[in-house]
Amino acid sequence: MKTVHVDTGRPYDIYIEKGVIDSAGEYAKKLSNAQKVTIITDSNVAPLYQWRVINSLSAAGFTVHTHVFKAGEESKHLGTIAEMYKALADFGMTRKDLIVALGGGVCGDMAGFAAATYLRGIDFMQIPTSLLAQVDSSVGGKTGVDLPQGKNLVGAFHQPVAVLIDPDTLLTLPDQFIIDGMGEVIKYGCIKDAAFFDFLEQENALQHLEEVIETCVSIKRDVVSRDEREAGERMLLNFGHTLGHAIEKLRDFKGITHGMAVAVGMVMMTRAGEAQGITEAGTTARVEALCKKYLLPVKESFSAEELAKAAQSDKKTAGGGISLVLLHTIGDSFTKKLPLEELRAFFEF
Ligand SMILES: NC(=O)c1ccc[n+]([C@@H]2O[C@H](COP(=O)([O-])OP(=O)(O)OC[C@H]3O[C@@H](n4cnc5c(N)ncnc54)[C@H](O)[C@@H]3O)[C@@H](O)[C@H]2O)c1
Repeated sequence: MKTVHVDTGRPYDIYIEKGVIDSAGEYAKKLSNAQKVTIITDSNVAPLYQWRVINSLSAAGFTVHTHVFKAGEESKHLGTIAEMYKALADFGMTRKDLIVALGGGVCGDMAGFAAATYLRGIDFMQIPTSLLAQVDSSVGGKTGVDLPQGKNLVGAFHQPVAVLIDPDTLLTLPDQFIIDGMGEVIKYGCIKDAAFFDFLEQENALQHLEEVIETCVSIKRDVVSRDEREAGERMLLNFGHTLGHAIEKLRDFKGITHGMAVAVGMVMMTRAGEAQGITEAGTTARVEALCKKYLLPVKESFSAEELAKAAQSDKKTAGGGISLVLLHTIGDSFTKKLPLEELRAFFEF
């Protein structure tokens, strides 16, 4: 068992262990005074894992209800949240009861948002089952949903009572989503940990999943403990994301997943940094080679103008400027505020 302690305003632990999903009831008992638990999960994950979690929670004495929503980012909207509120209210969930988010990042973000807002906030526990959710989205307390105008535009910061990570659940995750999660894994090496980047270059990360998950969540823990509400350092976690979101938007969220878009964004930002003389020469080649090793794409054919325009609608724009995350070198990242009118030239490299 690996345990990572997160020291946010409300501290909690992340437990990483094969099979830990079967101990959900024991953890819930230790951490909550709930009588009722609602498991929120999606239509792919429910048939695979809901019974193990239901059995564990029931054995620990909880009355359990499961709410299943249709899997996929398309479900990440306020209509699905309204259905969750209805399920919670119909089941008679009170302020001391508990939500368990069982699934990928979409489930964690939405169940977390329902927990943050139902009865002005109730407890929730994360059981992430996708690689992206295990290395990134289940930690840090960002919850939310998409609007037609853009991704994650409505949300709340709400920390879970615990995160239970069972790497064995990744055995059923389709390859495409393993590849997708590797985009975020590589991001952690790029922004904070050169030795981890070397490790990903030399080894096959998929044969060392527990260590990889522990390293990523430890880096995220360090960052969010210092900057829970993204006033500064937490922005570094957005490396590759501003361009990644722009690419997803230009492609109308079709034919490219989040992790793939982030990979292209990381390579392009590193190349832009090198062209400006900010990033150490040779860094782009390494980031590009590592993304390719884990089957991630590394380029897109959109023009600098198209990218700049799409990037301007990103959440990271403020006061006529945009905050970009760049690398000095592998493992050493920083943010640079750029006036919006200079964005296009920045992407012309
Ligand atoms: N809150 C944060 O800090 C944060 C950070 C990064 C990303 N995100 C969000 O995370 C979301 C993406 O997460 P995701 O990639 O996990 O998407 P997802 O939740 O849609 O999961 C991907 C797919 O895998 C399936 N799945 C999940 N676990 C499975 C398993 N063990 N076996 C079989 N199938 C399984 C899901 O049903 C889905 O079809 C985005 O909405 C993004 O905005 C949030």
